[in-house]
Amino acid sequence: MKKIALFLILSLSIALHSIADEGMWLPQLLGQQVYNDMVKKGLKLTKEQLYSVNKNSLKDAIIIFGGGCTGEIVSAKGLIFTNHHCGYDAIASASTVEHNYLKDGFYARNMGEEIKTRLSVQFLLRVEDVSNEVNNALADLSGKERAAKQREVMGAISKRMSDADKFIEARVSPIFKGNQYLVFVYERYNDVRLVGTPPENIGKFGGDTDNWEWPRHTGDFSIFRVYANKDNKPANYDVNNVPLKPKWYLPVSLKGVKEGSFAMIWGYPGGTNRYESSYGIKLATDINNPSLVELRDVRLKYMREEMVKDPAIKLKLASNYAGIANYWKFYDGETKQLLKHDVFGQKKAAEEKFNGWAKGKPEFENIFSEWKAAYDKWLPYAKQRMYISQGIKASPLIGFVEALSGLRSALNNPSLSKENLKKTLERATAMRSSFLLSEDKPSDEKFFAAATRMFYQNIAKEQQPKGFYEMLAQKYGSLDDDNTYKKYAADVFGNTIVLNDARWNAFIANPDVTAFNNDPAYRHYDAFVARYNAEYEPLYQEFEIKNNDLGRLYIKGEHEMNPAQAAKTYPDATFTMRVSYGSVEPYNPRDGVFYDFLTTSKGVLEKYKPGDYEFDLTAKQIELLRKKDFGQYADPMRKDLVVGFITNNDITGGNSGSPVLNNKGELIGLAFDGNYEALSHKLAFDKTFNRTINVDIRYVLWCIDKLGGAKNIINELKLMR
Ligand code: ARG
Repeated sequence: MKKIALFLILSLSIALHSIADEGMWLPQLLGQQVYNDMVKKGLKLTKEQLYSVNKNSLKDAIIIFGGGCTGEIVSAKGLIFTNHHCGYDAIASASTVEHNYLKDGFYARNMGEEIKTRLSVQFLLRVEDVSNEVNNALADLSGKERAAKQREVMGAISKRMSDADKFIEARVSPIFKGNQYLVFVYERYNDVRLVGTPPENIGKFGGDTDNWEWPRHTGDFSIFRVYANKDNKPANYDVNNVPLKPKWYLPVSLKGVKEGSFAMIWGYPGGTNRYESSYGIKLATDINNPSLVELRDVRLKYMREEMVKDPAIKLKLASNYAGIANYWKFYDGETKQLLKHDVFGQKKAAEEKFNGWAKGKPEFENIFSEWKAAYDKWLPYAKQRMYISQGIKASPLIGFVEALSGLRSALNNPSLSKENLKKTLERATAMRSSFLLSEDKPSDEKFFAAATRMFYQNIAKEQQPKGFYEMLAQKYGSLDDDNTYKKYAADVFGNTIVLNDARWNAFIANPDVTAFNNDPAYRHYDAFVARYNAEYEPLYQEFEIKNNDLGRLYIKGEHEMNPAQAAKTYPDATFTMRVSYGSVEPYNPRDGVFYDFLTTSKGVLEKYKPGDYEFDLTAKQIELLRKKDFGQYADPMRKDLVVGFITNNDITGGNSGSPVLNNKGELIGLAFDGNYEALSHKLAFDKTFNRTINVDIRYVLWCIDKLGGAKNIINELKLMR
């Protein structure tokens, strides 16, 4: 009897909790059905408290941080919490080998010690539906004409609603692949200062080995502050600026999480494609993802070789490396999970159902035959496109050469005035200086050689640049010998004016067009990239436009086929503000294995590997953790310091730094990752496996307070006990 009762309770709680919560909802359009479901799951706030058109509300605390992350305001003086990996570039840029904040951490003891950055943040002011205006302009257009007109109309709306003097920027976002259009109006603040960061062995604890994986023990947080002018308005950096007085800031909860706790995540998910066709899944698993992975494998290896040798090079390459490695592992994992969950099969089944419904409906019945034809036409060139972007152009030297295209057209324009030429040359010199700050010649040269060889080995002969490999064989030796490519790379890197100060300066003093056009880095760029741009990129554009047209129609048809479902569906992520809700839940990653819903300090010590690149700890951290000196941050139930926890929320890249809120809208954690078992989430949400990985806010506070001694930051927060 008892056993049965227990079984019943267990299965009931599974039914209530273990299904992951799909959906990245637009908070300004939160339907009553969705809101009711949030309340049913535990939310205690009204719709108005979440997002209000007229009053200040929770949404005013959520910001776009930098170029692709989320942040949140946590004090009345504009204090920002975000992820360590979101602040990473700013932290590395503020560091030197002598004052190495990336390695050792940093906390400003007062506002005077805060460090200027190049970051900006954006607050969402309002959202308007401009579907009528855009759709009227697009009327019956399709293909190229539609794409061009859409660009034009969206540009005009953005321009009309922006005001550069007031730092107001409007951006139109096509929702449901262009079935609907929303304009988001933001206020941009350009004075953002670094307030604090843990050392990298906390902020990136576990490195790329643990990245995208649970169980996790990373303290992935960093702290910034947004400044405004004396009128509390946006302004560029100025020593006289003052901390922003925000419309809203989040209280911070010390209460922690339990299994099943309500969790709400606000932020800016970058992109998903949940209506991708089965053809798109195949293109990803068979061509795009493996190409990206094999090229990044090599690139990362050469960067790592230099980074471990020298802390100055580590600082120089750290941010770039982290970005490349992050999506190297992501796409490798995505392929594996797409195959494991048979997403191709799932899509095929959905498409068959759709086709059954669409039969006899002229608008929809040919979508999938047209889609197949578009893919068949593009497929032969897909690999080359990846090899150009992830191989040839991924050499920083070649990427820089591309960035100098303005200089090149100026030089090749005989009617350009002396004055303009001079300006262009000055700009190019400034660009070169900043390029050299991040350039590491040894790793670049090795990758350049490897990519040139891989292109030869893996790209169809008829798509290789005409005459290029013949020239290589003639001048440098056998195309099956690594040394051939190394000798060629040495020639290019040894002779380009880009990497030689004396030659660059001589060229600027006396710009010789012919010499410039014959620079070996340019010749390489022309052979591969310019040729690709002329011959193959147009085919890709044609494919993309067709893909978009069909994708838009498919969603429209899906909504017509199932109107009840359509009423409670969410649009794909488009780096616009979203809210996702769910709960704290454990999971079974595979048969026979159970993953708890939280991790503790015990696991940090278990993972500790002295001297390791990814799992090292400082003496002070070991001491405090061993002493169990957790203060008010300890979890009363576990009698330990909780480090991380997982929820079944639906998020993706761009949500990094997002606040995880309890049912009262108090901060309980920062979302920083997705789990390996659901890395297919951009293309298909998996209700069983999907989890969001969060750092517990109490671990964040412990790091700031106990480890960092920065009571000044703790004192600024509104702590809820
Ligand atoms: N996977 C995380 C994200 O995309 C980034 C984690 C950065 N850490 C790392 N070890 N590369 O949000």
